[in-house]
Amino acid sequence: MIRKAGFILLAVGAANAAFAQGAGKPDLVSGRQNFEQSCGVCHTKPLITSGRFGPALSKASLGGQADVMAEVIGTGIPLRMPGFKHHLSQEQIRAVVAYIQTLDPPPPETAKPTARTSGERRDAN
Ligand code: HEC
Repeated sequence: MIRKAGFILLAVGAANAAFAQGAGKPDLVSGRQNFEQSCGVCHTKPLITSGRFGPALSKASLGGQADVMAEVIGTGIPLRMPGFKHHLSQEQIRAVVAYIQTLDPPPPETAKPTARTSGERRDAN
């Protein structure tokens, strides 16, 4: 009896794993890896001193529309960003989009406090 229950649990576990992949659920781990490898060089700022060529990406990019994002990633932007449709499969692109949609938008750039904006003037207006 105990053996049988164990077998059933195993079978259910395997079915769940197959479902998670087969149902076309995007793979966030591969999405993140491809994002870091292919997009990070322009879209992230790995060091505080490094610049960033493209905008920071998040769930708010392009109005959060997954289809538009996938289209831009596949086709690219003339002179500014390469297209990835020959480098990544549609499924990989979907996974990258799903990963981007887990990222919160960055806070607005805050000005460094200066003598005028710090101290007693901070509360004045
Ligand atoms: C060579 C640098 C470069 C690489 C590599 C690159 N991008 Fe871009 N990307 C840009 C630039 C620059 C822009 C902004 C273009 C503009 O606004 O004219 C952009 C814009 C975008 C936008 C639109 C953002 C917005 O808010 O308008 C998305 C989405 C995007 N990139 C996704 C990606 C993804 C995903 C990858 C990796 C698969 C990637 N990019 C790789 C340079 C790059």
